[in-house]
Amino acid sequence: MTDTYVASIDQGTTGTRFMVFDHSGQVVANAYEKHEQIYPEPGWVEHDPIEIWENTQDVVRQGLEDGGIDASQLEALGITNQRETTVVWDKETGKPVHNALVWQDRRTTDRVEELQEAGKVDEIREKTGLEADAYFSATKTEWILDNAEPLKMQSARGESLRDRAEAGELMMGTIDAWLIYNLTGNHITDVTNASRTMLYDIREMEWDEELLEEFGVDESMLPEVRPSSDEEYYGHTDPDGFLGEEIPVAGALGDQQAALFGQTCFDAGDAKNTYGTGSFYLMNTGNEAVASDHGLLTTIGFQMSGEPVQYALEGSIFITGAAIEWLEDVDLINNAAQTAELARSVDSTDGVYMVPAFTGLGAPHWDGRARGTIVGMTRGTRKEHIVRATLESIAYQTRDVAEAMEADSGVEMTSLRVDGGAVKNNFLCQLQSDIIQTDIARPEVDETTALGSAYAAGLAVGYWDTVDELRDNWQIDREFSPEMDAEKADKMYSRWDDAVERSLDWARE
Ligand code: G3P
Repeated sequence: MTDTYVASIDQGTTGTRFMVFDHSGQVVANAYEKHEQIYPEPGWVEHDPIEIWENTQDVVRQGLEDGGIDASQLEALGITNQRETTVVWDKETGKPVHNALVWQDRRTTDRVEELQEAGKVDEIREKTGLEADAYFSATKTEWILDNAEPLKMQSARGESLRDRAEAGELMMGTIDAWLIYNLTGNHITDVTNASRTMLYDIREMEWDEELLEEFGVDESMLPEVRPSSDEEYYGHTDPDGFLGEEIPVAGALGDQQAALFGQTCFDAGDAKNTYGTGSFYLMNTGNEAVASDHGLLTTIGFQMSGEPVQYALEGSIFITGAAIEWLEDVDLINNAAQTAELARSVDSTDGVYMVPAFTGLGAPHWDGRARGTIVGMTRGTRKEHIVRATLESIAYQTRDVAEAMEADSGVEMTSLRVDGGAVKNNFLCQLQSDIIQTDIARPEVDETTALGSAYAAGLAVGYWDTVDELRDNWQIDREFSPEMDAEKADKMYSRWDDAVERSLDWARE
């Protein structure tokens, strides 16, 4: 009998990955391609949705070819994606009306301050579980509708984008919806991605009319919201399309929720932290949407077909891995792997703290005008100290959200599951364990994001029958326990707050 598999498209901030998994959750094929980061103005970040779709097709073809797998061996396809990043496209042509506005894009910060001044923050938090912030899709969609000039000019009838939206001629979606639409022709998103738009009521489980009105988003633009693992399937790939096969597209999750799922955090109290461009610490809170008093987000964790939603608390840290990229950009390092060696070559940062607030600060501060800061430098400061301070900033930011998580959930964390590119760095894992004084568990398959969406799709088509099978697949690679004493960790962490204070509100004129 020919082996069969489940595949996942992981469309992330810096690139697109295609992975194929077997029944034991092992990777049997893998391909990756980067896409262009477009920075039209300081604080603005865009992606070209067409490039993303073309790269998606490329990595799928490449992965299958390299893995010696025929598309007919795929039982299901799952999608996972950078969240919040927003695309608006023309229903008739399927072409975007503007580049995608990326989750890191801060151009709508003024609009968010307007919402704050108008006292709308509590209402937004109660309905969506989110802090009013430019991070989410609502103000990005509004901006595109108001500003996508080229299309206004193309419209022979001279209508504005808003007129066209009201006439039902436009579609909006996060990247999952953009890919599902291109793969299946259906306009669908999953509950986790909907929960990141700041337009979706996470308790009522519906697009919120008042918020749609606030941001001038016509409901006809929005995708249908479906479970993350959907036995009814979102649709099938086109047998006459690039894959040449009709494969069910049956699972989708925002990438952080996919990592939660891939780490088999299926029960209340289970938590993971993913170290990518940013870091996202999520704790499953079961069927209860726990409101945060400490600057965390309440968000949808996942939903299985026919089952109630499982919620999560989330600490969204905007810049962690991207701070390492910055070290490379400014030539302090040649590659990410070098950070461990450089950091180890000094005993401490010699009092240097680095706050990588390049795109403002997310949880628990939520300050869109915070900016990057290095404090405590002396004439003796070397690049090794700055590199070490950058790694420490990742660990401190994680402690910020870990403390908030414990305070909100009342659950004392004893072990944290970690994943993402940066956890290959043993120095960082040990440092993280020291700074949060908790065991860190690194799984064998560290691409848990892709794995999570493959699991969601595979469960929907019956490739896996129960989540218990998935739990059995989770294998530990290495565990890190605190080696630093708690007093020293507290002392190092206590000055971090002072450094953060100096970065807050920096960009206000
Ligand atoms: O919310 C943003 C997050 O989904 C981005 O993840 O891994 O693409 O940096 P990543």
